[in-house]
Amino acid sequence: MPDEFVARSLEEVRFWSRIMKEHSLFLKLGFRCEDTQLINEANQFYAIFETIENRAHAFTLGTDPNTIKRFNEEVHIAVSHIWVFKRKLLGLILTCQLPGANNFPLLVDHVSREANYFRNRLSELNLGKLEPLPDAIIDENVFFLRIMADHAKFISHLLDPSERKLVEQANSFSHDFDQLLFQAKDLESMRPQSQTLPLLDQFLDQNRVSVKSLRDFKKTARDLIQACRIKSIIHPLLADHVFREAEHFLAIIDMFEYSLTGNAPVRESNTIE
Ligand SMILES: [Fe+2]
Ligand SMILES: [Fe+2]
Repeated sequence: MPDEFVARSLEEVRFWSRIMKEHSLFLKLGFRCEDTQLINEANQFYAIFETIENRAHAFTLGTDPNTIKRFNEEVHIAVSHIWVFKRKLLGLILTCQLPGANNFPLLVDHVSREANYFRNRLSELNLGKLEPLPDAIIDENVFFLRIMADHAKFISHLLDPSERKLVEQANSFSHDFDQLLFQAKDLESMRPQSQTLPLLDQFLDQNRVSVKSLRDFKKTARDLIQACRIKSIIHPLLADHVFREAEHFLAIIDMFEYSLTGNAPVRESNTIE
């Protein structure tokens, strides 16, 4: 019988270690040629998370939970280090010590928030302490709605300004997700009274609709970028990265829906492209 702790740990580490590895690459691409020290640091993080990712894939559901617990601790340390690196970078950018470099401050803050999220997930897993469902629903949505709103802003700012229609669409997603984030924050401040089944269920339904359409937009953008059909400075891997994060958020929403109502959400078929 598969151990729930092992399954959840492997799932999280496999997903997020790849994300951390890719952040190292994106940050590196934004440095100037003379920032050799920062480039080296980014390369080191890339290698560290690549190793972690490979190890996470080598473990199986039958691996001893104690081994996984120690592995999680190790990963936690690596994630703490990359978090420190990202915050150091943010400091350098905001004090104008990297003039001409190409990482937006919001992007650096964003990737540090994702590292912090991953680190907290690892602590929760190892402590065996999960938030009560109504709190988890609100907190995870507040976190991911902001992530989605940021993605829309990055896409809008990294598309070529001449791609007017796509920029407009990205800006409209940015606005939608800012609104959804405010709604989530309102629900957050009204808790515990707001944590009724109908309100939480409606909250998940509404968020799911918007995340699906953003996910589809990202998929289209990714395909267009890969086929070199649109003008942008978006790395194809970045386009795929933000698409995967939207898919991850959708899976979390579905999991909450199931825990809340017992209804397995209807996943649309993959035939619609
Ligand atoms: Fe990311
Ligand atoms: Fe992200």
